[in-house]
Amino acid sequence: MSMQIPRGTQDLLPGEIEIWQYIEQKSKEICSRYNYKEIRTPIFEHTEVFARGVGETTDIVQKEMYTFTDRGERSLTLRPEGTAGVVRSFVGNKLYGEASQPTKLFYTGPMFRYERPQAGRMRQFVQFGVEALGSADPAIDAEVLALVMSIYYELGLTDIKLVLNSLGDKESREAHRDALINHFKPSIGEFCSDCQNRLEKNPLRILDCKKDREHPLMQTAPSIHDYYTEESAAYFKEVKQHLDQMNLPYVVDPTLVRGLDYYNHTAFEVMAEGEGFGAITTLCGGGRYNGLVQEFGGPETPGIGFAFSIERLIMALKAQGKVPDFGNQLDCFLVTLGDAAKAKSVELLYQLRQAGIRCDKDYLDKKMKAQFKAADRLNVRYTAILGDNELNENRINVKNMETGEQVEVALDTFITYMKEQVEGGK
Ligand code: HAM
Repeated sequence: MSMQIPRGTQDLLPGEIEIWQYIEQKSKEICSRYNYKEIRTPIFEHTEVFARGVGETTDIVQKEMYTFTDRGERSLTLRPEGTAGVVRSFVGNKLYGEASQPTKLFYTGPMFRYERPQAGRMRQFVQFGVEALGSADPAIDAEVLALVMSIYYELGLTDIKLVLNSLGDKESREAHRDALINHFKPSIGEFCSDCQNRLEKNPLRILDCKKDREHPLMQTAPSIHDYYTEESAAYFKEVKQHLDQMNLPYVVDPTLVRGLDYYNHTAFEVMAEGEGFGAITTLCGGGRYNGLVQEFGGPETPGIGFAFSIERLIMALKAQGKVPDFGNQLDCFLVTLGDAAKAKSVELLYQLRQAGIRCDKDYLDKKMKAQFKAADRLNVRYTAILGDNELNENRINVKNMETGEQVEVALDTFITYMKEQVEGGK
């Protein structure tokens, strides 16, 4: 039996977890400003949800899913992404029938993909994502883009680029698809076996192939931009106009196709541009998926969303030196000398905590000097010192660790005194 952590997973320990909490808090707070509400769906779903939702021909479904049969002989899959489960829930719970539309949701939680692990590519990773269902107004595309960029900007990231494309509507895509087949077919033998399979099933995905990236036919492949219907072109134009209105910078890249099958119209990625990233530079991906709700048996409902992994966001924050100092985690440490003082400290600590003060004490029977050392290591703001003598005389010493100043306080007023100090110093 292996006691090692599985490849592509990680433990998040104290010291590192603070940055996770900070990102989650900030992202949720921004979502609430945009009126997106949290949804939590199961970590596993019927395999069909992803096979149909994400698309049979995608790498995710063909190569990367953690699929298992449960004891009831059902095929279940650990979610590789959040959108399919959210749409399944939207249909199952008839959220489309709620009075307030569009339905604007956000989620965060672990996702699972059997990929080759490397920096920024995990087998279990945490996505934060949003989905807006029920509106085909280009303004909501712009809203979703503004939301994700706000999260990045407010966390302090600057070296990032919003890359935008439109995949057009069904008609545009079909015309483009035929053009792609005609373009690649005569030389498809020169492409990898995945691309050969993709030619008839999903030729758009050939453009996304990493192995054949350098093939000359990739450079000359027909662009979706030449196949937009009037409606698709107008939709894309409006999305861009809204971004311009908000002064949100973006670049249009006609080769951006995304690796999931459900997209149409707006598709986008946020890329990291700075140093220290290695091979993986995509921080976030998303787009519009107007047919997906119907695919799950719901009424025709447009949708758009994005997801980013917190792992990659942290890489970007670290690379750009934007991880804040989480500062003082503890207000007070109680140092005691003598058995009576030690016993009394249990009660004092409880009262301090009841009063909202973050505090701790020694539990290893350490000598006084070692207790002070522990307090130092915790970087506390105050140390309270209680000996048996002081206890007898109903007093306690409080040392401000920043100024070095020490005052004697009557024990009866200690909790109130500490509360004033801590609150006053905030
Ligand atoms: P995706 O592009 O497959 O899209 O993934 C979105 C983001 O999840 C990526 O940009 C990356 O930040 C992160 N990610 C993906 N795989 C890994 C991995 N192995 N390790 C670490 N991070 C990873 C989706 O998942 C869509 N559901 C996004 C969406 C929402 N589209 C519409 N709504």
